[in-house]
Amino acid sequence: MEAPSAPAHRGLSLWKELLLAVSLLSFWSPPTTARITVESINAAEGEDVLLLAHSLPENLVSYSWYRGERVDSKHQIATYIITLARILPGPAHSGRETIYTNGALLFQKVILNDTGHYTLQTITKDTQTEVASGQLRVYKPVGKPSIRARNTTVTEHKDTVELTCLTNDTGISIHWFFRDQRLLLTNRMNLSQDNSTLIIEPVRREDAGGYQCEVSNPISASKSDPHRLDVQTENDYSGYSAGTIAGIVIGVLFVVAMGSSLGCFLYHRRTGRASDPQGLTEHRPPASTPGQGPSGASTSLDPLPGPRTAGPIYEDLLHPSTDVYCRISPRADGAS
Ligand SMILES: *[C@@H]1O[C@H](CO)[C@@H](O)[C@H](O)[C@H]1NC(C)=O
Ligand SMILES: *[C@@H]1O[C@H](CO)[C@@H](O)[C@H](O)[C@H]1NC(C)=O
Ligand SMILES: *[C@@H]1O[C@H](CO)[C@@H](O)[C@H](O)[C@H]1NC(C)=O
Ligand SMILES: *[C@@H]1O[C@H](CO)[C@@H](O)[C@H](O)[C@H]1NC(C)=O
Ligand SMILES: *[C@@H]1O[C@H](CO)[C@@H](O)[C@H](O)[C@H]1NC(C)=O
Repeated sequence: MEAPSAPAHRGLSLWKELLLAVSLLSFWSPPTTARITVESINAAEGEDVLLLAHSLPENLVSYSWYRGERVDSKHQIATYIITLARILPGPAHSGRETIYTNGALLFQKVILNDTGHYTLQTITKDTQTEVASGQLRVYKPVGKPSIRARNTTVTEHKDTVELTCLTNDTGISIHWFFRDQRLLLTNRMNLSQDNSTLIIEPVRREDAGGYQCEVSNPISASKSDPHRLDVQTENDYSGYSAGTIAGIVIGVLFVVAMGSSLGCFLYHRRTGRASDPQGLTEHRPPASTPGQGPSGASTSLDPLPGPRTAGPIYEDLLHPSTDVYCRISPRADGAS
């Protein structure tokens, strides 16, 4: 046991030795100081994936891959013995893993359950070991989301808009688009914690347009169909009813016109009937065969003006009266 008052020169020489060792190390040891690394990777379910190792030392004897963040023989996937060019499967080998000569681990047709940490251990000829871990994340491609809205037509300054992005996917990010651009949040807008619900309160006219939500994960993204939001101002109602009023006015005018012409018709019909005796007797055509006319089914036994009795009708029209149309009516009327 050394005394606390150890000679100062001994400490100094130790320090010199250390300095020498460090300088020697830094001079020729870069290959060994470059730590090995394993590249983390995101993959889509069903793909073949390579977990790559970088900065591997030289003079390697073997590579061993383990499931998890540690070297644990229970979770050994496989060991590749370089000198023998042989792969020895471990207890964690699923039958889909292969180790390449460059140390990379190949997964064939990754499944979601392959997600996790993987650890590589290298051993050199002088039995130096190095360890590095990386992560493999396996995702399902996201499906197309849809938008659910409380109201599609809302009134400016009054209503609240609530749009919800519907998706069955998990582990996703949600972003909103307005008129095909990333939605810029105004101080009237709020997003729920997970961005799935967009609230606009109060809504304004400039908020009208197509909204889309996009769900994404590291390997895929999908946008909903646009959801159209219509924003009405209170004035829209009068603007809208102006057209309706015009329509109603036209309708009323039409009805009035119809009514007056009907009145004329009825009036003349009545007056025509009153003048029937003379008109009919004066211009009655020669009796034609009953049942020949268009109203042949009529039970009337009166001679009917058939289609071939155009002559007398012509006479009627020649009658010195301006009520030409009204003249014909009593005739047909009297015929039935
Ligand atoms: C997923 O992995 C765990 C262990 O990590 C295992 O217990 C489970 O059976 C696996 N599931 C499937 C579907 O492979
Ligand atoms: C939906 O629209 C109706 C009618 O315009 C309105 O009364 C209601 O408040 C609106 N709902 C929301 C959530 O804005
Ligand atoms: C979610 O799943 C249900 C049932 O599996 C389906 O009816 C619905 O369309 C899905 N929704 C989306 C947004 O994929
Ligand atoms: C929510 O949206 C904002 C703005 O678009 C974005 O910065 C953020 O990453 C999103 N968060 C999630 C969890 O999707
Ligand atoms: C948005 O959320 C914040 C915090 O939750 C709240 O203070 C604010 O009033 C909300 N704004 C709207 C427009 O809902």
